[in-house]
Amino acid sequence: MQHHTTVGIIGGGPAGLLLARLLHNHGIDCVVLESRERDYVEQRQRAGILEQGTVDVLRSCGAGERLDREGLVHDGIELRWNRRSHRVDFPALTGGRRVWVYAQTEVVKDLIALQLADGAPLLFGAHVHAVEGADTDRPVVRYRHEGREKTLSCDYVIGCDGFHGVTRSAFPEQARRTYERVYPFSWLGILADVAPSCEELIYAHSPRGFALHSMRSPEVSRLYLQVPNGTDPADWSDERIWDELEARFAVDGDWKLERGPVTSKAVLPMRSFVTEPMRWGRVLLAGDAAHIVPPTGAKGLNLAAADVIVLARALAHLKETGSTALLDAYSDTCLRRVWRAEHFSWFMTTTLHTDPAQSDFDTRLQISQLDRIAASPHAAAELAENYAGLEIG
Ligand code: DHB
Repeated sequence: MQHHTTVGIIGGGPAGLLLARLLHNHGIDCVVLESRERDYVEQRQRAGILEQGTVDVLRSCGAGERLDREGLVHDGIELRWNRRSHRVDFPALTGGRRVWVYAQTEVVKDLIALQLADGAPLLFGAHVHAVEGADTDRPVVRYRHEGREKTLSCDYVIGCDGFHGVTRSAFPEQARRTYERVYPFSWLGILADVAPSCEELIYAHSPRGFALHSMRSPEVSRLYLQVPNGTDPADWSDERIWDELEARFAVDGDWKLERGPVTSKAVLPMRSFVTEPMRWGRVLLAGDAAHIVPPTGAKGLNLAAADVIVLARALAHLKETGSTALLDAYSDTCLRRVWRAEHFSWFMTTTLHTDPAQSDFDTRLQISQLDRIAASPHAAAELAENYAGLEIG
Protein backbone atom coordinates (compact mmCIF):
# COMPACT_ATOMS: atom_id res chain seq x y z
CA MET A 1 0.00 0.00 0.00
CA GLN A 2 1.20 3.50 -0.78
CA HIS A 3 1.12 5.98 2.10
CA HIS A 4 0.73 9.71 1.77
CA THR A 5 1.87 12.59 3.95
CA THR A 6 2.00 16.36 3.53
CA VAL A 7 5.75 16.68 4.08
CA GLY A 8 8.19 13.79 3.70
CA ILE A 9 11.41 14.57 5.57
CA ILE A 10 14.48 12.58 4.59
CA GLY A 11 17.03 12.51 7.40
CA GLY A 12 16.61 12.60 11.18
CA GLY A 13 19.59 14.79 12.08
CA PRO A 14 19.12 18.22 13.63
CA ALA A 15 17.64 19.76 10.44
CA GLY A 16 15.04 17.03 9.86
CA LEU A 17 14.09 16.72 13.52
CA LEU A 18 13.75 20.46 14.09
CA LEU A 19 11.68 20.81 10.92
CA ALA A 20 9.38 17.99 12.08
CA ARG A 21 8.93 19.72 15.43
CA LEU A 22 8.13 23.10 13.86
CA LEU A 23 5.65 21.55 11.41
CA HIS A 24 4.00 19.58 14.22
CA ASN A 25 3.45 22.85 16.11
CA HIS A 26 1.80 24.31 12.99
CA GLY A 27 -0.48 21.26 12.64
CA ILE A 28 1.20 20.13 9.41
CA ASP A 29 1.70 16.40 9.16
CA CYS A 30 4.98 14.84 8.16
CA VAL A 31 7.01 11.64 8.29
CA VAL A 32 10.73 11.52 9.10
CA LEU A 33 12.84 8.77 7.49
CA GLU A 34 16.29 8.25 9.04
CA SER A 35 18.64 5.63 7.61
CA ARG A 36 20.65 5.03 10.82
CA GLU A 37 19.50 3.52 14.10
CA ARG A 38 18.60 5.75 17.06
CA ASP A 39 21.75 4.85 19.07
CA TYR A 40 24.03 5.92 16.25
CA VAL A 41 22.26 9.25 15.70
CA GLU A 42 22.35 10.04 19.41
CA GLN A 43 26.04 9.18 19.84
CA ARG A 44 27.77 10.86 16.91
CA GLN A 45 30.01 13.72 18.01
CA ARG A 46 29.46 16.96 16.15
CA ALA A 47 29.64 20.68 16.78
CA GLY A 48 28.78 22.35 20.04
CA ILE A 49 27.91 26.02 19.54
CA LEU A 50 24.35 27.33 19.22
CA GLU A 51 23.66 30.87 18.05
CA GLN A 52 21.16 33.11 19.79
CA GLY A 53 18.60 32.59 16.98
CA THR A 54 18.93 28.79 17.16
CA VAL A 55 18.44 28.83 20.93
CA ASP A 56 15.40 31.12 20.62
CA VAL A 57 13.72 28.66 18.24
CA LEU A 58 14.59 25.56 20.28
CA ARG A 59 13.05 27.24 23.31
CA SER A 60 9.92 28.38 21.50
CA CYS A 61 9.26 24.92 20.05
CA GLY A 62 9.52 23.23 23.45
CA ALA A 63 13.07 21.82 23.12
CA GLY A 64 14.81 24.31 25.41
CA GLU A 65 14.36 22.81 28.85
CA ARG A 66 17.59 20.79 29.19
CA LEU A 67 19.46 23.34 27.08
CA ASP A 68 18.57 26.01 29.65
CA ARG A 69 19.64 23.73 32.51
CA GLU A 70 22.86 22.30 31.07
CA GLY A 71 23.91 24.66 28.28
CA LEU A 72 26.76 27.09 28.98
CA VAL A 73 26.17 30.71 27.97
CA HIS A 74 29.20 32.37 26.36
CA ASP A 75 29.62 36.10 25.88
CA GLY A 76 32.78 36.01 23.81
CA ILE A 77 35.77 34.13 22.44
CA GLU A 78 39.50 34.55 22.83
CA LEU A 79 41.82 34.81 19.84
CA ARG A 80 45.52 33.95 20.26
CA TRP A 81 48.45 34.66 17.97
CA ASN A 82 52.11 35.63 18.42
CA ARG A 83 51.92 34.64 22.14
CA ARG A 84 49.28 37.33 22.77
CA SER A 85 45.55 37.14 23.24
CA HIS A 86 42.49 39.26 22.50
CA ARG A 87 38.92 38.79 23.70
CA VAL A 88 35.99 39.50 21.37
CA ASP A 89 32.96 40.53 23.44
CA PHE A 90 29.76 39.47 21.66
CA PRO A 91 26.96 41.29 23.55
CA ALA A 92 28.91 44.56 23.61
CA LEU A 93 29.58 44.41 19.86
CA THR A 94 26.24 43.02 18.67
CA GLY A 95 23.60 44.71 20.80
CA GLY A 96 23.28 41.82 23.24
CA ARG A 97 23.65 38.61 21.22
CA ARG A 98 25.49 35.64 22.74
CA VAL A 99 26.07 31.93 22.07
CA TRP A 100 25.51 28.67 23.96
CA VAL A 101 27.78 25.65 24.32
CA TYR A 102 25.40 22.70 24.02
CA ALA A 103 26.40 19.73 21.86
CA GLN A 104 24.53 18.87 18.67
CA THR A 105 24.11 15.30 19.98
CA GLU A 106 22.21 16.70 22.96
CA VAL A 107 19.93 18.79 20.70
CA VAL A 108 19.25 15.64 18.68
CA LYS A 109 18.44 13.60 21.82
CA ASP A 110 16.01 16.30 23.03
CA LEU A 111 14.25 16.54 19.65
CA ILE A 112 13.99 12.73 19.28
CA ALA A 113 12.45 12.44 22.76
CA LEU A 114 9.84 15.10 21.89
CA GLN A 115 9.12 13.54 18.51
CA LEU A 116 8.59 10.06 19.93
CA ALA A 117 6.44 11.41 22.78
CA ASP A 118 3.89 13.32 20.72
CA GLY A 119 5.26 14.06 17.25
CA ALA A 120 4.78 12.73 13.77
CA PRO A 121 6.16 9.30 12.77
CA LEU A 122 9.95 9.01 12.96
CA LEU A 123 11.36 5.83 11.40
CA PHE A 124 14.92 4.69 12.10
CA GLY A 125 16.66 2.23 9.76
CA ALA A 126 14.64 3.60 6.81
CA HIS A 127 16.95 3.60 3.77
CA VAL A 128 15.76 6.01 1.08
CA HIS A 129 17.07 5.02 -2.34
CA ALA A 130 15.07 7.31 -4.65
CA VAL A 131 13.10 10.53 -4.72
CA GLU A 132 11.00 10.76 -7.89
CA GLY A 133 8.65 13.24 -9.51
CA ALA A 134 10.13 16.49 -8.18
CA ASP A 135 8.28 18.43 -10.88
CA THR A 136 4.92 16.66 -10.38
CA ASP A 137 2.20 17.41 -7.79
CA ARG A 138 2.97 14.22 -5.87
CA PRO A 139 6.69 13.49 -5.46
CA VAL A 140 7.38 9.97 -4.22
CA VAL A 141 10.02 8.64 -1.82
CA ARG A 142 11.12 5.00 -2.22
CA TYR A 143 12.75 3.40 0.81
CA ARG A 144 13.51 0.10 2.47
CA HIS A 145 12.41 -0.47 6.07
CA GLU A 146 12.45 -3.69 8.14
CA GLY A 147 13.39 -5.68 5.03
CA ARG A 148 10.50 -4.39 2.88
CA GLU A 149 10.26 -1.94 0.01
CA LYS A 150 7.96 1.00 0.81
CA THR A 151 6.66 4.08 -0.96
CA LEU A 152 5.67 7.41 0.53
CA SER A 153 3.91 9.99 -1.62
CA CYS A 154 4.10 13.58 -0.42
CA ASP A 155 2.94 17.10 -1.18
CA TYR A 156 6.54 18.18 -0.55
CA VAL A 157 9.77 16.27 0.04
CA ILE A 158 12.51 17.86 2.15
CA GLY A 159 16.06 16.54 1.86
CA CYS A 160 17.74 16.88 5.26
CA ASP A 161 19.95 13.91 4.41
CA GLY A 162 23.36 15.54 4.56
CA PHE A 163 26.16 15.95 2.07
CA HIS A 164 26.05 12.27 0.99
CA GLY A 165 22.24 12.12 0.83
CA VAL A 166 20.21 10.99 -2.19
CA THR A 167 17.65 13.82 -2.31
CA ARG A 168 19.94 16.19 -4.22
CA SER A 169 19.97 13.76 -7.13
CA ALA A 170 16.20 14.30 -7.59
CA PHE A 171 17.14 17.66 -9.15
CA PRO A 172 17.99 17.44 -12.87
CA GLU A 173 21.77 17.57 -13.37
CA GLN A 174 21.55 20.53 -15.77
CA ALA A 175 19.48 22.55 -13.25
CA ARG A 176 22.13 22.37 -10.54
CA ARG A 177 25.19 24.47 -10.03
CA THR A 178 27.72 23.54 -7.35
CA TYR A 179 30.53 25.55 -5.78
CA GLU A 180 33.25 23.85 -3.81
CA ARG A 181 36.57 24.29 -2.02
CA VAL A 182 38.54 21.57 -0.26
CA TYR A 183 41.17 22.68 2.26
CA PRO A 184 44.70 21.26 2.51
CA PHE A 185 44.27 20.33 6.19
CA SER A 186 41.88 18.56 8.58
CA TRP A 187 41.02 18.70 12.29
CA LEU A 188 41.88 16.11 14.88
CA GLY A 189 39.09 16.47 17.47
CA ILE A 190 39.28 15.06 20.98
CA LEU A 191 37.09 14.81 24.05
CA ALA A 192 38.93 14.74 27.38
CA ASP A 193 37.81 14.14 30.94
CA VAL A 194 39.31 17.32 32.32
CA ALA A 195 37.86 20.67 33.33
CA PRO A 196 38.31 23.25 30.53
CA SER A 197 41.41 25.41 30.99
CA CYS A 198 39.42 28.48 29.95
CA GLU A 199 36.02 30.05 30.54
CA GLU A 200 35.49 30.93 26.87
CA LEU A 201 36.61 29.24 23.65
CA ILE A 202 40.16 29.90 22.46
CA TYR A 203 40.93 30.08 18.73
CA ALA A 204 44.72 29.99 18.26
CA HIS A 205 46.79 30.85 15.20
CA SER A 206 50.34 29.55 15.42
CA PRO A 207 53.21 28.72 13.05
CA ARG A 208 52.62 25.06 14.04
CA GLY A 209 48.99 25.28 12.87
CA PHE A 210 45.57 26.09 14.29
CA ALA A 211 44.21 24.90 17.65
CA LEU A 212 40.80 25.35 19.28
CA HIS A 213 39.89 24.89 22.93
CA SER A 214 36.18 24.24 23.43
CA MET A 215 34.21 22.35 26.05
CA ARG A 216 31.14 20.21 26.66
CA SER A 217 30.58 20.73 30.40
CA PRO A 218 32.47 21.97 33.47
CA GLU A 219 34.12 18.50 33.56
CA VAL A 220 34.65 17.72 29.86
CA SER A 221 36.90 19.55 27.40
CA ARG A 222 36.66 19.43 23.61
CA LEU A 223 39.80 20.37 21.69
CA TYR A 224 40.82 20.46 18.05
CA LEU A 225 44.20 20.52 16.27
CA GLN A 226 44.92 21.29 12.63
CA VAL A 227 46.52 18.15 11.11
CA PRO A 228 47.49 17.16 7.54
CA ASN A 229 44.81 15.55 5.35
CA GLY A 230 44.96 11.77 5.58
CA THR A 231 46.08 11.79 9.25
CA ASP A 232 45.41 8.56 11.15
CA PRO A 233 44.25 9.37 14.72
CA ALA A 234 46.13 6.25 15.86
CA ASP A 235 49.40 8.12 15.11
CA TRP A 236 48.53 10.65 17.80
CA SER A 237 49.17 9.39 21.33
CA ASP A 238 47.52 11.33 24.15
CA GLU A 239 50.89 12.76 25.12
CA ARG A 240 51.64 13.93 21.59
CA ILE A 241 48.21 15.62 21.39
CA TRP A 242 48.63 17.48 24.68
CA ASP A 243 52.22 18.54 23.84
CA GLU A 244 51.10 19.93 20.49
CA LEU A 245 48.06 21.71 21.96
CA GLU A 246 50.27 23.26 24.64
CA ALA A 247 52.73 24.54 22.02
CA ARG A 248 49.99 26.06 19.86
CA PHE A 249 48.14 27.78 22.73
CA ALA A 250 51.40 29.22 24.20
CA VAL A 251 50.83 32.78 25.42
CA ASP A 252 52.72 35.28 27.56
CA GLY A 253 51.55 35.20 31.17
CA ASP A 254 50.74 32.36 33.52
CA TRP A 255 48.01 30.47 31.61
CA LYS A 256 48.25 26.68 31.83
CA LEU A 257 46.63 23.90 29.77
CA GLU A 258 45.30 21.17 32.06
CA ARG A 259 45.65 17.60 30.76
CA GLY A 260 43.36 14.63 31.30
CA PRO A 261 42.38 11.25 29.83
CA VAL A 262 41.39 11.47 26.13
CA THR A 263 38.10 9.58 25.65
CA SER A 264 37.56 10.08 21.91
CA LYS A 265 39.72 10.98 18.88
CA ALA A 266 38.56 11.55 15.31
CA VAL A 267 39.75 13.31 12.15
CA LEU A 268 37.34 15.71 10.39
CA PRO A 269 37.80 16.86 6.78
CA MET A 270 37.33 20.54 5.90
CA ARG A 271 35.18 21.51 2.96
CA SER A 272 33.14 24.43 1.60
CA PHE A 273 30.27 23.40 -0.67
CA VAL A 274 27.07 25.02 -1.97
CA THR A 275 24.51 23.67 -4.43
CA GLU A 276 22.05 26.04 -6.11
CA PRO A 277 19.10 26.23 -6.23
CA MET A 278 17.86 24.70 -2.95
CA ARG A 279 14.46 23.91 -4.46
CA TRP A 280 13.33 22.06 -7.56
CA GLY A 281 9.57 21.72 -7.99
CA ARG A 282 8.24 20.10 -4.82
CA VAL A 283 11.61 18.90 -3.54
CA LEU A 284 13.60 21.20 -1.24
CA LEU A 285 17.00 20.82 0.41
CA ALA A 286 18.00 21.95 3.92
CA GLY A 287 21.24 21.84 5.93
CA ASP A 288 24.27 19.83 4.79
CA ALA A 289 22.32 18.37 1.85
CA ALA A 290 22.63 21.84 0.27
CA HIS A 291 25.75 23.32 1.83
CA ILE A 292 28.83 22.48 3.88
CA VAL A 293 31.07 24.90 5.74
CA PRO A 294 34.46 24.15 7.30
CA PRO A 295 33.91 23.94 11.08
CA THR A 296 35.91 27.03 12.12
CA GLY A 297 33.27 29.43 13.49
CA ALA A 298 30.67 26.72 14.17
CA LYS A 299 28.14 27.73 11.49
CA GLY A 300 27.04 24.32 10.13
CA LEU A 301 24.34 23.37 12.64
CA ASN A 302 23.09 26.96 12.93
CA LEU A 303 22.79 27.27 9.17
CA ALA A 304 20.79 24.04 9.03
CA ALA A 305 18.48 25.38 11.75
CA ALA A 306 18.00 28.66 9.85
CA ASP A 307 17.02 26.77 6.67
CA VAL A 308 14.30 24.79 8.40
CA ILE A 309 12.99 27.83 10.28
CA VAL A 310 12.51 29.61 6.93
CA LEU A 311 10.96 26.46 5.47
CA ALA A 312 8.53 25.84 8.33
CA ARG A 313 7.40 29.46 8.11
CA ALA A 314 6.84 29.08 4.35
CA LEU A 315 4.84 25.84 4.72
CA ALA A 316 2.75 27.36 7.52
CA HIS A 317 2.06 30.40 5.32
CA LEU A 318 0.93 28.07 2.53
CA LYS A 319 -1.39 26.21 4.91
CA GLU A 320 -2.89 29.38 6.34
CA THR A 321 -3.24 31.50 3.20
CA GLY A 322 -2.92 29.13 0.25
CA SER A 323 -0.04 31.27 -1.02
CA THR A 324 3.25 29.70 -2.17
CA ALA A 325 5.01 33.09 -2.10
CA LEU A 326 7.34 32.26 0.82
CA LEU A 327 8.00 28.78 -0.52
CA ASP A 328 8.84 30.26 -3.92
CA ALA A 329 11.33 32.58 -2.20
CA TYR A 330 12.85 29.75 -0.08
CA SER A 331 15.99 29.15 -2.11
CA ASP A 332 16.89 32.83 -2.51
CA THR A 333 16.09 33.62 1.14
CA CYS A 334 18.32 30.80 2.41
CA LEU A 335 21.15 31.28 -0.06
CA ARG A 336 21.74 34.87 1.07
CA ARG A 337 22.44 33.63 4.58
CA VAL A 338 24.29 30.54 3.31
CA TRP A 339 26.79 32.63 1.33
CA ARG A 340 27.34 34.96 4.31
CA ALA A 341 28.15 31.91 6.45
CA GLU A 342 30.31 30.44 3.67
CA HIS A 343 32.32 33.64 3.59
CA PHE A 344 32.64 33.84 7.38
CA SER A 345 33.67 30.18 7.72
CA TRP A 346 36.22 30.55 4.92
CA PHE A 347 37.50 33.76 6.56
CA MET A 348 37.92 32.14 10.00
CA THR A 349 39.52 29.07 8.43
CA THR A 350 41.99 30.88 6.21
CA THR A 351 42.87 33.53 8.80
CA LEU A 352 43.62 31.02 11.56
CA HIS A 353 45.09 27.96 9.81
CA THR A 354 48.53 27.48 8.31
CA ASP A 355 48.34 26.25 4.73
CA PRO A 356 51.34 23.97 4.18
CA ALA A 357 52.01 25.89 0.93
CA GLN A 358 51.68 29.38 2.36
CA SER A 359 54.44 31.98 2.07
CA ASP A 360 55.76 34.37 4.71
CA PHE A 361 53.74 37.05 2.91
CA ASP A 362 50.52 35.08 3.52
CA THR A 363 51.41 34.69 7.20
CA ARG A 364 52.00 38.44 7.54
CA LEU A 365 48.53 39.08 6.08
CA GLN A 366 46.97 36.73 8.65
CA ILE A 367 48.78 38.48 11.51
CA SER A 368 47.77 41.88 10.16
CA GLN A 369 44.11 40.78 10.09
CA LEU A 370 44.26 39.51 13.68
CA ASP A 371 46.01 42.72 14.80
CA ARG A 372 43.24 44.69 13.10
CA ILE A 373 40.52 42.80 15.01
CA ALA A 374 42.35 43.60 18.25
CA ALA A 375 42.77 47.28 17.33
CA SER A 376 39.41 48.14 15.82
CA PRO A 377 35.94 47.67 17.36
CA HIS A 378 34.58 47.79 13.80
CA ALA A 379 36.71 44.83 12.71
CA ALA A 380 35.86 42.96 15.94
CA ALA A 381 32.15 43.72 15.49
CA GLU A 382 32.21 42.17 12.03
CA LEU A 383 33.53 38.93 13.55
CA ALA A 384 31.15 39.09 16.54
CA GLU A 385 28.01 39.67 14.43
CA ASN A 386 28.79 36.73 12.18
CA TYR A 387 29.81 34.45 15.05
CA ALA A 388 26.82 35.20 17.30
CA GLY A 389 24.57 34.91 14.25
CA LEU A 390 22.63 37.25 12.01
CA GLU A 391 18.86 37.65 12.24
CA ILE A 392 16.96 34.87 10.48
CA GLY A 393 15.00 36.40 7.61
C1 DHB B 1 33.19 23.64 18.46
C2 DHB B 1 33.32 23.39 17.11
C3 DHB B 1 33.66 24.41 16.26
O1 DHB B 1 33.80 24.19 14.95
C4 DHB B 1 33.87 25.70 16.73
O2 DHB B 1 34.20 26.69 15.88
C5 DHB B 1 33.70 25.95 18.07
C6 DHB B 1 33.37 24.91 18.94
C7 DHB B 1 32.83 22.55 19.38
O3 DHB B 1 32.66 21.41 18.92
O4 DHB B 1 32.72 22.78 20.60
